[in-house]
Order: sequence, then C-alpha cells, then structure tokens
Amino acid sequence: MGWQGAAWLEREEREREERGSLLLKELALRPGLDVADVGAGTGYHARRIAPRVAPAGRVYAVDVQPQMVAMLARLAAQPGLENIVPVQASASDPGLAPASVDLALMVDVYHELEYPHEVLGALVRALRPGGRLVFVEYRAEDDRVPIKPLHKMSEAQIRREAALHPLDWERTADTLPWQHVVIFRKR
Ligand SMILES: C[S@@+](CC[C@H](N)C(=O)[O-])C[C@H]1O[C@@H](n2cnc3c(N)ncnc32)[C@H](O)[C@@H]1O
Repeated sequence: MGWQGAAWLEREEREREERGSLLLKELALRPGLDVADVGAGTGYHARRIAPRVAPAGRVYAVDVQPQMVAMLARLAAQPGLENIVPVQASASDPGLAPASVDLALMVDVYHELEYPHEVLGALVRALRPGGRLVFVEYRAEDDRVPIKPLHKMSEAQIRREAALHPLDWERTADTLPWQHVVIFRKR
C-alpha cells in the first residue's frame, strides 16, 4: 500500500471492523518485550503496543516507505511513545540487528512483500531464540471478508512459506472478524 493510503489505515471504523484490541490480547504483550512492527505504516499498531511493553521494551516501527518512516518519527516524538524506534527498511532487509527482538509482527504486510523469503529470513535472524513471528492476514478462505483476493492469504499458504525457515507453528487464532493471526516460534 502506498503512503497515500495512510488515511485508510487510520479510519475511524477500523477497530469495529478489525478488532485490533483483540489482536493485542492474542500477542500477550508484557513490559520489557522488544517488538518489531514490520510494515508499521502510520503506526496504528505500534502506538498501541508501545505503552504495553514500556518502560524497558521497545517497538521497532519498520517501514520501507520513507514517507511512512517520517510519520513514525513524528509519532515517536509524542509523550509516552518514546520507546518507539522508527526504522527505515529496504525491500529485502528490515534493518533489524540479529537477536534484537522477542516478537516480530506483520499486519497486512507479508502478502505485499517484494522479497518475502529474504525478509522472513532476516526477521528470523532478528528474533531471539524462542521469539515469536506473527502474521496477520485477511482470510482468503472466507468470501465474506470484504477485501480484494490479491490482499488476502490462506493459513495454508502462510504455513507453507514459513516452513522454509527455522520456525515452529504454534497456533492460529481466528478471533478477529476478518484476519487470521498465525503465530510461529523461532526454533
Ligand atoms: C497495508 S499497510 C499495513 C500497515 C500497518 N501494518 C497497519 O496494519 O496499519 C502495509 C505496509 O507495509 C509496508 N511494507 C511493504 N513492503 C515492506 C518491506 N519490505 N519492509 C517494510 N515494510 C514494508 C508498506 O510500506 C506499508 O506501510
């Protein structure tokens, strides 16, 4: 999604439609966790995660579009959100240090990646042992989800692609109205 679509990410009805608050519960956040919000966009999720991992935990808010990173930098300057660290990614490298995060989250991002295999490999390296990688994607299996097929993924497809990396599938939560939350752990 181009940065010009930022308003859609921040739309007022998003919580009612997608229940991001339920996603936060699925993530089992706690103070001290270091989280990467990969493809953070406007920081819709990063700014909700940041207070839950503060004061010691950081949220690396990663994006490939400089315009999004500029928005994330403005967000990180706001009081109470100082633990957000904006990160400029390249198309194939999220720009995270090895073994630097406990949780890497991609909400509606993986299906857009130009180099999915390379990015996933880099995210696995950025995870600490036992860290979690979480995919949130619109459910391709469900015709009632009002999103173009191009922007949807099935759980089977996500699991097939993750199986190419040292990741163990942990569980898939289908508590959200439109998306599945597919959770893996680094081996
Ligand atoms: C549909 S938006 C989702 C934004 C955010 N996760 C949310 O749910 O509000 C997808 C985002 O992924 C970013 N993106 C695409 N490819 C990327 C890459 N290789 N590395 C980091 N971000 C990427 C886009 O720039 C865009 O901001």
